[in-house]
Amino acid sequence: MNVTIIGCGFVGLTTGALLAAAGNKVYCVDVDKKRIEMVKQGKPPFYEPGLKQLLKKTVQAGKLIATTSYKEAMAESEIAIICVGTPANPDGSVNLEYIFQAVRSMLDHLTNNMIIVLKSTVQAGTGREVEKMFKKSRHKIDLVSCPEFLAEGSAIFDTLNMDRLVVGGDSATAKNKVIELFTSIDKLSRKTDLTKYDKYTTVYENAVKNNLQIPFSERVLSISLESAELVKITANAFLASKISFANSIARLCDVSGANIEEVMEGIGRDRRIGNSFLKAGIGWGGSCFPKDTEGLLAYANNRGIELEIVKAARKINADQVKYIITKIKDIFNGNLKEISIGVLGLAFKPGTSDVRYSPAISLVQLLLKSNKKIKVFDPQATSDARQILADKVTYANDLNDLIKDTHLLILATEWPEFVNLDFDLVKKLMKKNVLFDARNKWDRNSIEDAGLKYFGIGK
Ligand code: UGA
Repeated sequence: MNVTIIGCGFVGLTTGALLAAAGNKVYCVDVDKKRIEMVKQGKPPFYEPGLKQLLKKTVQAGKLIATTSYKEAMAESEIAIICVGTPANPDGSVNLEYIFQAVRSMLDHLTNNMIIVLKSTVQAGTGREVEKMFKKSRHKIDLVSCPEFLAEGSAIFDTLNMDRLVVGGDSATAKNKVIELFTSIDKLSRKTDLTKYDKYTTVYENAVKNNLQIPFSERVLSISLESAELVKITANAFLASKISFANSIARLCDVSGANIEEVMEGIGRDRRIGNSFLKAGIGWGGSCFPKDTEGLLAYANNRGIELEIVKAARKINADQVKYIITKIKDIFNGNLKEISIGVLGLAFKPGTSDVRYSPAISLVQLLLKSNKKIKVFDPQATSDARQILADKVTYANDLNDLIKDTHLLILATEWPEFVNLDFDLVKKLMKKNVLFDARNKWDRNSIEDAGLKYFGIGK
């Protein structure tokens, strides 16, 4: 099929590159000229494992065409997929301006009947507003909501191996066309070695096996427009609540002698609960959970509904970094002033250069109130983090440089190279011996065997 993707962010470029690799002709449009120039050269404007190779291949094959011109992109396409960002307004509600801008540009260049797919994350009701805008056109437009569930760091893996394809809208014909389009990705995934892309999928344990055993048609959920929109937002709110639940129980473990990992493993083995997204640690961040839970609360509030669970999940999350600082202060008898601290990781999670709402950054910012000798290191996110932390911290050149002469080392983002440190070498390089595992990913025994002191969350 001929497809237009609007918005070259994580969702747009991943979807575009995979649709192109699956044999479709894909135009990727963005108003950002710099971004389009990069994509034309096969370079993603951000770090996402595997995307660079995929972009290069599909651009060179002429299957993915990056352009700033809606005219060029729209001329041949039967389907246009809106993947633009939906940032938060100052009051927490969702800012839909980029979507409306995209629709206005599409209206200016529509030459035939089309299916418009809304993939950007929106609150229920946005699709109807978009439908209304297209009523001005003399062409027949069918709108389908097809929310995105990929996670950063495993974007390609998640798209190749989706749990479900949700399609919402009034037209069964349009929904079937969208299902047909994404079936091409399912066919591609059956020819692809998925283990190439699973390095940062912490989410699904036996995902490859499980999903590909189920025929794609059985993974499709065809529902109403409003339901599809709400599925996306409430899925994120539910996942965020699971993590906050684990983080609150971790505090209980800290005072009861129980171990949060054992407790969550114990409850997660109950299939009704499941063991994903129950890892306690520094709390959730990124561009989705914080924004989407806030947007959901604002949306519900405007309609007279109080979502107490989501509110509590946000409160627990906002307190988690403070809780970690309190624990660290306790180790040093309340005084962090004189010590030198190394922080491992700045990205909101491993596998990405994204630092939006990164709890690692919040941790550094809060630590700076009690300590001015902080060194940081991240394999991908340093340049983005510099925009926020500026010269308030020292940027280490490499891992050894970070660890050298520190009294305290904190694991803030669980990049594999940080999790699998050579702790004997760490012991030699550090000035003192305190390791704080804010992600609960280090192996306590290896650390203690090396003569270092281990502290974690809820264990
Ligand atoms: C999230 C959802 O997982 C995707 O399904 C969704 O498509 C995406 O938002 C979106 O709306 O676009 P993402 O924000 O990229 O994806 O990353 P996650 O893997 O969900 O992690 C979110 C945060 O939760 C990270 O800070 C991570 O470290 C934290 N987390 C995750 C935990 O603290 N504990 C866990 O057990 C799992």
